[in-house]
Amino acid sequence: MTDRPKLLGISGSLRAGSFSTALLEALRKALAPKADLTVYRLNGVPLYNQDEDTATPPEAAAALRAAIAAADGIIFASPEYNYGTSGAMKNAIDWGSRPYAKGALIGKPALIVTSSPGSTGGIRAQAQLRESLSATGARVVSYPHLAVPGVGEKVKDGAFTDEKTAGFLLGGVDALLAEIALLAKARG
Ligand SMILES: Cc1cc2nc3c(=O)[nH]c(=O)nc-3n(C[C@H](O)[C@H](O)[C@H](O)COP(=O)(O)O)c2cc1C
Repeated sequence: MTDRPKLLGISGSLRAGSFSTALLEALRKALAPKADLTVYRLNGVPLYNQDEDTATPPEAAAALRAAIAAADGIIFASPEYNYGTSGAMKNAIDWGSRPYAKGALIGKPALIVTSSPGSTGGIRAQAQLRESLSATGARVVSYPHLAVPGVGEKVKDGAFTDEKTAGFLLGGVDALLAEIALLAKARG
């Protein structure tokens, strides 16, 4: 790790006007003084198929794995779809979890953020994400649930319009950065 941590922000929504992606864009700007956040969209990543998970997996899946591997930490920004995470996000976790015992997510510091235009902030997707990520060996940061309700009023044009939300999320990212630093120190 360099002095400037490299973060990967994976958006769980494929929608062009996604609030999940917008939150990541807002975080990217707010984090500019101390970390590089690359916003990653999952459009084009095929559904996980073990038959295709060979030495030459589909290009978009290989690119996702490489992006995860190159990052010091991952922010999973997910919508809530029917009380869980989106299929696109679960699929990304599945690709990131393989090959068995060599998955890009193994040992990777991770932060979960959910949002919704509704009043619950996507909080019901959090447990599923945490559970699936625990299966991959990712090191999910222990932090109060980062859930953003009424997200349409909290972020506009790729920037935060609500200071409280910005501070709340940046507190979570600070915990992620602390985990990354701790790990780097332990690895020497
Ligand atoms: C298939 C589907 C299921 C949804 N289920 C929920 C839900 O369980 N809870 C919720 O708060 N919003 C739900 N929504 C509304 C989403 O929160 C809303 O569409 C949100 O903008 C999606 O995230 P995005 O802006 O990042 O695309 C659902 C939307 C879709 C399309």
